[in-house]
Amino acid sequence: MTGEELLLMIPGPVPLLPRIREAMSRPMIYHRGEEFGEMYREIVDGLKWIFQTKNDLFVMSGSGTCAMEAAVGNLLRTDTPAVCIVNGKFGERLVEIGHRYSTNVRAVEFEWGGSIELDAVKAAMDEVQPQVVTMVHNETSTGILNPAEAIAKLAREYDALFVLDCITSIGGYNVPIDQWGVDIAITGSQKCLGAPPGISAISISDRAWALMEANSSRRPYYMDLIAYRDSYDKFQTPYTPALPLFFALHEALEVIREEGMVKRIERHRLLADTVRNAIDAMGLSLFPKLNEVSEYSNTVTAVNVPEWLDDASLRAGMRERGVMVAGGQGRLKGRIFRIATMGNITEREVSRTIQALDSTLKEHR
Ligand SMILES: Cc1ncc(COP(=O)(O)O)c(C=O)c1O
Repeated sequence: MTGEELLLMIPGPVPLLPRIREAMSRPMIYHRGEEFGEMYREIVDGLKWIFQTKNDLFVMSGSGTCAMEAAVGNLLRTDTPAVCIVNGKFGERLVEIGHRYSTNVRAVEFEWGGSIELDAVKAAMDEVQPQVVTMVHNETSTGILNPAEAIAKLAREYDALFVLDCITSIGGYNVPIDQWGVDIAITGSQKCLGAPPGISAISISDRAWALMEANSSRRPYYMDLIAYRDSYDKFQTPYTPALPLFFALHEALEVIREEGMVKRIERHRLLADTVRNAIDAMGLSLFPKLNEVSEYSNTVTAVNVPEWLDDASLRAGMRERGVMVAGGQGRLKGRIFRIATMGNITEREVSRTIQALDSTLKEHR
């Protein structure tokens, strides 16, 4: 089965529309010239519209983790108190990054697939009095949507900055960054925006700038956000941007404008609903354990592997039928599989996926 034929239903990279793929083969341009400046400005304006923010926003050449490290690395110095909320692999990654920059990082951990409990977060904040709080909005490793608005509010009460990883929510969900009061929000290109992998976006509030400016000696070099801000005065990036990916993101944002965010969010919801209903109808169960502040993700559905079938056979069966879904990550390997409904996919791809799963299950039952 070639890459062309195989339908990627993994949580990024997502399949690309031909017009977005073709944008990558445009001739190179001078990255310090007007043409680049105009394109970069349009990309930033488009992303600000999707982030619903008036904060500064930049595009970084580097995948989502680059923006995660930019956020944490620019804010934390050796002893900055931080609370990092964890209920999956990507929450844990923010802790790991935090440990590289500060010795005063407290991980508030919940079961992977479990929900965040506000009381436990509050108790940790009482103890640590953090300057920075981090959380993943849509925890891709477990298929759960975490309570971003509630944690943003809590962070404000403690006068802490709130860093939110929106890598698999922005572009598929309503994520009103300014209304919620998110100080740093980040996203990746290869997820709900429907662009190729390799670049990421980050928005920064005035409050976050103030802490970064006070952290003058310990900021990362390649991911120095103050350098990004200085360069943006000329509509440039500090170092050579990954031009083909910028071309593709520019086109992907045009696709999003044409669809409109309201319709796009609704499409993500409907497709995830279709997957969840099909899972239920096939007698399988969803992995996340919800409480009153969490929801099933509309961009990735995590499903328990049934006892009577192993994960490798399940995913191999689907691949033979032309569909690739993702397995579990880290400690969830072999226990769950994940079906993404993000980017520009439609009902058609979702039906193909459900048929492939159904027929694989029937073959093994
Ligand atoms: C929620 C979340 N955060 C961070 C990342 C890491 O992004 P990347 O692999 O683009 O570096 C991912 C990737 O799947 C993700 O889903």
